[in-house]
Amino acid sequence: MGGTPASPGEYPAQGWLLVDIDPTPGFDAECGGTLVASRWFLTAAHCVVGASAFTVLLGDTDVTEPNTDWYGVVGAQVNSAYNEISQQNDVAMLKLSRPAPYQPLRVIGPNESSSWAAGTVARIIGWGTTEEGGNTSDVLLKADVPIVADSSCANAYALHAPPVDPNTMVCAGDGVHDTCQGDSGGPLMVRDAAGNWVLAGITSWGEGCARPEFPGVYTRLGSPALNAWVAAHYPRASFTVGAANSGAPTNFTSTSFHPEPNGFVSFMWDFNGDGVYRDGAGATTSWVFADGGPHTVGLEAFSAPGDSQFVRQVVNVNWSPMVDAGPQRSVPEGGRIVLRASGSDREGQPLTYSWDLDGKPPEFDYKTPGPNPTYSAARFDGPAKRAISLQACDPVGACSRDSGVVRITNVRPRVNAGPNRRVKRGTKVRFRVRASDPGPDRLTATWRFGDRTRPVRGFAVRHVFRRSGRYKVKVRVVDDDKGARTDTLIVRVKR
Ligand code: ARG
Repeated sequence: MGGTPASPGEYPAQGWLLVDIDPTPGFDAECGGTLVASRWFLTAAHCVVGASAFTVLLGDTDVTEPNTDWYGVVGAQVNSAYNEISQQNDVAMLKLSRPAPYQPLRVIGPNESSSWAAGTVARIIGWGTTEEGGNTSDVLLKADVPIVADSSCANAYALHAPPVDPNTMVCAGDGVHDTCQGDSGGPLMVRDAAGNWVLAGITSWGEGCARPEFPGVYTRLGSPALNAWVAAHYPRASFTVGAANSGAPTNFTSTSFHPEPNGFVSFMWDFNGDGVYRDGAGATTSWVFADGGPHTVGLEAFSAPGDSQFVRQVVNVNWSPMVDAGPQRSVPEGGRIVLRASGSDREGQPLTYSWDLDGKPPEFDYKTPGPNPTYSAARFDGPAKRAISLQACDPVGACSRDSGVVRITNVRPRVNAGPNRRVKRGTKVRFRVRASDPGPDRLTATWRFGDRTRPVRGFAVRHVFRRSGRYKVKVRVVDDDKGARTDTLIVRVKR
């Protein structure tokens, strides 16, 4: 009552439910109802109890003929807690004979009570009577009514039999706009947090229609028990998302529910947001998002070819860090260098660096913490190349890696031939070279005495000078990488 015509397509989930309640064949009662999944139609229990046949018209606002999109009903489930006398738990689910191609209406969740707090303007629709005791409407009508506080509704119906039960009923009305006979089973809708209509109540009963002292009474779908009953009686697609970091696989798992055994038989996914559910298949799958930021992901759960439920959800993908181990570095064998990590994070999160310096891919363990560790080439033998790897992790646990190479260069030995000498001609002179190598190289020493004798190998050698004079004695020490150094001493030989 007090409504205005709805536009075609404005309430795609709204259906016109015709019921056969008397012994003669033919439909003789009218209700409303809401498509909550492709084959599942939620209505009032009092529209279903005692009826022998149903038919549902969808996709039409004007119910005068011709009507085309009729649906048979192949199953009816009435809430076993429905009380015909008190009208508590006035809810039933009908299963349609074939999937309907209209956008279902989301049923409110048990944690969304703020969306239907007292005073909230709710929307009611239906083809019910436009006056108490009057005629039903041929066109779908819509009207807005404020949700009435439980206490005022209880007061309004205090002397009424049956009274209102705030656990299973919620009231709405302003004395001008109301549902009325023929609207039962239809929706009481409120806006959810995202601004979309959501099904919060089912038109159930009232004392007269649009009477200022008596608000309309609706099945309270937000109550935990009623919400659980509804949730257990229609199929829904849903999924959970694992850690989502750019450049790494993100795992998706269907948590879809179907009230019938083996209800869902296959699952298809849309990961690139194009609305085509062909990017993945199966109840669990994974996808690599190249970029961070928000991505819309969809899951379509099929109970049969052509009969599916879908859900779309925004997944916020964390940007994985960018990391750079820097250009190739050189370090002399036995020496050390300080490494320099650089990295950045698109979200500006601080990064934690760790290195693997023992060069054994693929079992990198990143045991060396910090951005600037010292790389020690002690006991390393150059020339050689060793692999290192740098890892940067953001606080969410997304890590990126870059590998690098350290070039170990060979270092020539250190050589000390000892002090200059003065000796007598014809005596044995002992020479000893002190040599060392920063690497693990083996060294060889070769002496040349400057008197045309043959070179002699050894670290400690003897030599006899036959003639007096001044000799330049050279010792050359060579490592096994051909790194060499020579030291010289002067020997003065007297007669
Ligand atoms: N029981 C009615 C029906 O079957 C709905 C009554 C709603 N009454 C009200 N005052 N809001 O259609």
